[in-house]
Amino acid sequence: MEKIVVTGASSGIGLEIATQLARPGRKLWLVGRNRDKLQDLASTVEANGAAAEVVALDLMDREACARFLESSFPDGEPADEVYLSAAVSMFGEVKDVLDEDWRWIYETNLLSPIQWMLHFYRGMAAAGRGRIVLLSSLSAYTGYPTAVPYAAMKAGLMGVFRSIRHEGELLGVTFHLVSPGYVDTEIYKRAKYRSTSYEQTMRLIGTLGFKVISAEEAARRIVRQVGRGKRDICLPAYACFLAWLAPRMPFIIDRIHRKILEKFRRTAA
Ligand SMILES: NC(=O)c1ccc[n+]([C@@H]2O[C@H](COP(=O)([O-])OP(=O)(O)OC[C@H]3O[C@@H](n4cnc5c(N)ncnc54)[C@H](OP(=O)(O)O)[C@@H]3O)[C@@H](O)[C@H]2O)c1
Repeated sequence: MEKIVVTGASSGIGLEIATQLARPGRKLWLVGRNRDKLQDLASTVEANGAAAEVVALDLMDREACARFLESSFPDGEPADEVYLSAAVSMFGEVKDVLDEDWRWIYETNLLSPIQWMLHFYRGMAAAGRGRIVLLSSLSAYTGYPTAVPYAAMKAGLMGVFRSIRHEGELLGVTFHLVSPGYVDTEIYKRAKYRSTSYEQTMRLIGTLGFKVISAEEAARRIVRQVGRGKRDICLPAYACFLAWLAPRMPFIIDRIHRKILEKFRRTAA
């Protein structure tokens, strides 16, 4: 039985990845806080012929996570594939960001994926096989004024990937980094806002003219490209282009960022 773990499975991209991966011969561990949503997903996964286990956990609770990881995936019993999709977001100028916001984003978006990645990596390395998929963001490549803590943690995750992928490959473990642009999910509704609001932020994003893809489409592209063995995955096409452009022609990214900031300041609460 192939063992697959998905964090952030109760919503958005994680939920769609889990749905698309569900097929006979697989067991999926579905991780998030919202037990009801995870239970609904488990029913879908089982209807698709896979086995499912609901894991209702707060990823900020490192001790509870360690207990789960050690009991469900002890030494010698590694997972085959792990998708670390859980994350939170926030918007506001960095001068208005509080210490508690930094800690929230740091613990959820960087420390937690590192804790889960390391646990599974050790088991996979000992077995000489496995795949770990880290959900990052286009903002790791380009930065994102008005989302500084979020962009900083995603860049941290990218730094982890850039180094560990080489260690992993020699031990039979493949790492993938996924860097999406805008995807239509709940992450915006559930973000924290400082001196702005959900409505203002969505209006601003709407004026930028970038394509917003569905979570279903994002997951389809991720599952396909991971399956083909692609390590560095950007989506959709404009995200690949901007990620390529950022180190080569930073003045173009600067122009986009100045536009974001001007619009933000004009409409900020
Ligand atoms: N949407 C975009 O435009 C976009 C763009 C670039 C990158 N991404 C990245 O894509 C990934 C998926 O995001 P999404 O857009 O699908 O967001 P989403 O719909 O808000 O899903 C986020 C998931 O993370 C889980 N989560 C958050 N905090 C948690 C905690 N403390 N403990 C346990 N679970 C927690 C949520 O579960 P519960 O609510 O059940 O706790 C939920 O399942 C993230 O890494 C995000 O940064 C998204």
